Amino acid sequence: MASLKTVLYLGVCLSAWIITTADENFAPKEESIHWVSLDFKIVLVWTTIPSDYKYSVLYSSDDSVWKQSHCIRISDSECDLTEELKPLDRTYTAIIRTEPDDDNDYDYDPDVSHDSKSPSFNPYRESNISVVNFNVVVVNENSVIVNITDPLSGEHDTGRQLSIRDILKKDLKYKISYYKSGSTGKRDIISNSTTAEVSKLDAGQIYCFMVAAFIPSRPKSTQLGPWSIQQCTPGDVYVLQELSLAACIGAVFILLTVLVIIVTVTVLCCRRRRQRNTFQSSAPV
Ligand SMILES: *[C@@H]1O[C@H](CO)[C@@H](O)[C@H](O)[C@H]1NC(C)=O
Ligand SMILES: *[C@@H]1O[C@H](CO)[C@@H](O)[C@H](O)[C@H]1NC(C)=O
Repeated sequence: MASLKTVLYLGVCLSAWIITTADENFAPKEESIHWVSLDFKIVLVWTTIPSDYKYSVLYSSDDSVWKQSHCIRISDSECDLTEELKPLDRTYTAIIRTEPDDDNDYDYDPDVSHDSKSPSFNPYRESNISVVNFNVVVVNENSVIVNITDPLSGEHDTGRQLSIRDILKKDLKYKISYYKSGSTGKRDIISNSTTAEVSKLDAGQIYCFMVAAFIPSRPKSTQLGPWSIQQCTPGDVYVLQELSLAACIGAVFILLTVLVIIVTVTVLCCRRRRQRNTFQSSAPV
């Protein structure tokens, strides 16, 4: 009786061990599956266990009809779904199907495969936007134009690479933050387009600008993209011209002074030599 109990107990332990280890080694854990998306390039990433498993990715926008992606029985731990998740403004979920790498035919066998579900993801609302490039063009001493380049996206349309503005359209705005060099106050303006005129600047001052993509239709915490590196105006060109004019006058003045000294010294020398000559010739021989 006691031995039967031991055997039963062992059996339970063993099967529990098999189940847990199978679970641990078999499929990516749900929390280890995540979406990486920048400028609407969309990649599903998961952690693999270094063993002979193959992964297939299925996706759905309603959790009922699952479409097979182009990632079928791959050994990588990521799948680029940029071409497949369309339209962008839908919430998608993916399933990673893990199977042992033992037969070459693709036959789904529910006994040996295991599905893990990804978190849901809406590319239009959740894709990160990269750092923005821009330049500052001086218009006159009181205003500049901030000239922004829309980042290119991972999306293509009939061979043409779309910019993030082609995708976000009116939802894309830019936040421009600027300050006068030497002062701590910052001012922000929102621009609907890629060029923004900033006026009422103090003449002759250096101003520094930073730009970030701004999507007010998104949740507050993800509205703002990363800030660019700041770009400053060259400061007052008139001041520089005045400076160089002063430098010129200074140089001329120094030259004149040197000339006057040389002339004075020469004249003095000559006069003294002439005096000595006069004195020598008048002396009795
Ligand atoms: C967006 O960027 C943040 C911060 O770098 C990161 O934590 C998040 O995972 C990114 N999201 C996507 C979908 O790539
Ligand atoms: C804005 O930048 C682009 C590219 O950098 C350039 O072709 C264009 O002429 C610039 N516009 C202005 C107003 O400077």
